[in-house]
Amino acid sequence: MCGIVGFYGKHSAKDIILEGLSALEYRGYDSSGIAVIDEHEDLKCIKEKGRLKVLEETVQESGLDGHIGIGHTRWATHGVPSKENAHPHLNSEGTIAVVHNGIIENYLELKHELIEKGYIFVSDTDTEVVAHLIDLYDEGDFESAVYKTLDRLKGAYALGIISSKYPDTLIATRKESPLVVGVKGNEYVIASDIPALLGFTRDVYYMDNNEVIIAQKGQLRIQDLEGNVVSKTLTHIDWDTEAASKNGYSHFMMKEIYDQPTAIRETLCRRLDEKRHIQLDDIKLQKEDLDELNKIYIVACGTAYHAGLVGKYAIEKLARIPVEVDIASEFRYSDPFVDDKTLLIVVSQSGETADTLAALKEAKRKGARVLAITNVVGSSVAREADDLFYTWAGPEIAVASTKAYTAQLVAFYMLALHFANTKGTITDQEYVAYVDAIEGLGNKVEEILSQKETIEAVAKILVEATSAFYLGRGLDYTTAMEAALKLKEISYLHTEAFAAGELKHGTIALIEEGTPVLAIVTQERLAEKMISNMKEVKARGAYVIAIAKEGTPHIGHVADKIIEVPAVCDILMPILSVIPTQLLAYYTSTLKGLDVDKPRNLAKSVTVE
Ligand code: F6R
Repeated sequence: MCGIVGFYGKHSAKDIILEGLSALEYRGYDSSGIAVIDEHEDLKCIKEKGRLKVLEETVQESGLDGHIGIGHTRWATHGVPSKENAHPHLNSEGTIAVVHNGIIENYLELKHELIEKGYIFVSDTDTEVVAHLIDLYDEGDFESAVYKTLDRLKGAYALGIISSKYPDTLIATRKESPLVVGVKGNEYVIASDIPALLGFTRDVYYMDNNEVIIAQKGQLRIQDLEGNVVSKTLTHIDWDTEAASKNGYSHFMMKEIYDQPTAIRETLCRRLDEKRHIQLDDIKLQKEDLDELNKIYIVACGTAYHAGLVGKYAIEKLARIPVEVDIASEFRYSDPFVDDKTLLIVVSQSGETADTLAALKEAKRKGARVLAITNVVGSSVAREADDLFYTWAGPEIAVASTKAYTAQLVAFYMLALHFANTKGTITDQEYVAYVDAIEGLGNKVEEILSQKETIEAVAKILVEATSAFYLGRGLDYTTAMEAALKLKEISYLHTEAFAAGELKHGTIALIEEGTPVLAIVTQERLAEKMISNMKEVKARGAYVIAIAKEGTPHIGHVADKIIEVPAVCDILMPILSVIPTQLLAYYTSTLKGLDVDKPRNLAKSVTVE
């Protein structure tokens, strides 16, 4: 999982590529590199281990530049993070350079074949075979050498390729890994994702699988694998550039936490008609289709999976359709009961998560209809799905997902209401009351954000801990899971989430004097039970922090600290109760001096299995 950028045009390739890479660093950041063809038509390549700024310094000192080039930011899959394994990868003569995002599955077989032919490999990566294969097939025609190479590759890739033998050509292609091309006059930028282009242009082509881009002699051609020209429509990106920058916050994560009231309102309000009915233009499911369904599967990874757990609850309660939720990497190998009466809902912020995409394809193969909830327009998941729900959260850059999660919850509530209304399982009054309540959530999130000092004070307790526990029942358990993931991933504090009633069946043995236990108490009918569970852990020495719906009776008698969240109907509480947990994770991480936006070992978009 990596980010690629390439440039062809009159401007400085180095500047545009480095700017693009910095917008893509969320895709991986263990090493990076750049190759350009300079004024003498020589290929120059610089690579560095570590964050992009290391590469930037070396490139600035070197004076490297040109008008055509490619760059890469890496998240290691094959081979450790190192300068040798960083991209671009070159042929032995150093005339061909390749950047790659994805996995070449048959690289070992190709590598052995190339070694037998005398090629020498200098990295452990799968990508290096591509540079040598192009070299092998180059008989004076760059394009045909690339086509012959593509014919040999199995797996997933987005590739950017240049060669000093053809100093006026940039070639790029994709199969199962994302790629877009930005256009400005006769200048072109290729990239894994839109933010990498925004500094240069807002007019883009979304590339489809097996399309090849050839920027040559000031012209751009897009071809299929047979060499036929493909005509595509240019899309104008109207995102606010501000939306892709920190906007004065010290970290993207904090900015994105604060973006949530807007993300919630945007996701809902732009889809309400004058009668305040939800209009979902990209969802074609009719009442007959819903009546035919025997089951809905929700499949996703990580935070998106947690959103799916809330989605199950909302759809079952409001639309009365049975729902199963599964982790995408498990679903795809579990031979699930899926057929043409199944609706598969995939949830993916990036729309590029390899496991989610594979689950989607597996379900489609079995005849299921697929509805995608994603934040990225034109992403792979969006393109494969039959029905679409775009969360309008804006670009999410911090590795830890926040605003995409709450927007996914809004999406599920809206879907559940839409299904329920179509099927007639709720009354008009209930429908209107829910829409009003969802609309009001933005203001309630703002109320919670205004308590951030109280939450920061609680984080000081967590900083001292060696492990922590989140407890919840019902919907609060789903929030506990998401809260624990967030705390683990950015503060490196070992945290577990438990269904509160389950703790006494083993895990309570871990509670010691001072162990922080964070109890989420927002479900009215379960509050009393939760309070009993809090007493159980307190009696064993736990330091109990309650995240509780305002007005919850008796909570003050048992909790050492209380973070209150405003009240709304129980089913919508997960949107509010997760906010303090995001802030807790954020402050615990910053108080420990950690890199909040780019936690170790992680990348934003997991495009490998
Ligand atoms: C955690 C986080 C991840 C993602 C997961 C799926 O904060 O962000 O757990 O939710 O990798 O990513 P998407 O939603 O892009 O498919």
